[in-house]
Amino acid sequence: MTSKKPYILAIESSCDDTSAAVLCGEKVLSNIIASQKIHQEYGGVVPELASRAHQQNIIPVVHQALARAHVAKEQLSAIGFTRGPGLQGSLLVGVSFAKSLALSLDIPLVEVNHLQGHILSHFIDKEGNKKPSFPFLAMTISGGHTQILKVNDYFSMEILGETQDDATGEAFDKTAKILGLPYPGGPLIDKYAKEGNPHAFSFPFPKVEGLNFSFSGLKTSVLYFIQKNVKENPNFIQENLSDICASVQYTIIEILMRKLKKAVSQTGIQQIAIGGGVSANSALRATLQHYAKKDLWEVFIPEFQYCTDNAAMIGIAAYYKYLRKDFADMHVTAQARYNF
Ligand code: KG4
Ligand code: ZN
Repeated sequence: MTSKKPYILAIESSCDDTSAAVLCGEKVLSNIIASQKIHQEYGGVVPELASRAHQQNIIPVVHQALARAHVAKEQLSAIGFTRGPGLQGSLLVGVSFAKSLALSLDIPLVEVNHLQGHILSHFIDKEGNKKPSFPFLAMTISGGHTQILKVNDYFSMEILGETQDDATGEAFDKTAKILGLPYPGGPLIDKYAKEGNPHAFSFPFPKVEGLNFSFSGLKTSVLYFIQKNVKENPNFIQENLSDICASVQYTIIEILMRKLKKAVSQTGIQQIAIGGGVSANSALRATLQHYAKKDLWEVFIPEFQYCTDNAAMIGIAAYYKYLRKDFADMHVTAQARYNF
């Protein structure tokens, strides 16, 4: 396989997914994700176990990504990797691997900010896929982050608002934990909520200035609500699981949508792209589509495989940096807290 466009191998290891992807320009040839099941037993990601699992997974995952893309490592033009933000021990595995491979192949190394990767995943080529044009609004909602940004260019992004405590994904995961559901709870709440009434129970909305968010109050009110009701009826959770999930999910989505509407009215920008694990949520996707029809917003929702952590999004960001010859030097290290 030959092409004038560069072949880029990208590595993502910021949290609990080990992923490798091969891209040819903006086209994804392979995107392999090894999710770590071990954390389910602990109700959350255990950093020590995550880095160990990345060590075990990284070589097979990279081999599989190259094999599925039908690309030999000698054909690669650059190696992209997630520098941060994320868990330091997890990031180090990806950074070290990327550096060693780039050094041995004598090709450039490209560092990527994980959150910019989530946003730039909208530029991956797909048939019939319209890409956002600059400037647009992005909302990144994951297990570690919740932000609304104005995206002026590929690497020029302004944070307009962000969470002051828990991330949106944590609101899902912590609710799930209170309900006795395994980690990660977001997909399960999504599933049970489909059968439930979103207005069965009501939870208070946080009062937060501007475009910032807060989710820790919601977690506490869900905890007190469950404790009180279980005291009166020990089977309360089992008997009302779908309604509880639907009501909490409705509150989370409403919190997000109120801020998004505010961001649209403040900036006058009506193109909205979402990213991060929570953008896989089916009710949020439907709500956004509804607003798109009603308010003439242009909404960009990633394919499921590019919602949660994946290396393809790191690859597309690396491609745009490669075009600018924005390469990392060999002294680069992982950065757990990494602002852009
Ligand atoms: O982006 P991601 O894979 O990892 C981080 O960078 O954090 O996001 C993981 C988060 C978890 O909190 C998970 O519960 C949530 O995304 N999530 C969902 C859904 N799928 C994943 N939350 C709600 N509904 C879903 N369908
Ligand atoms: Zn992420």
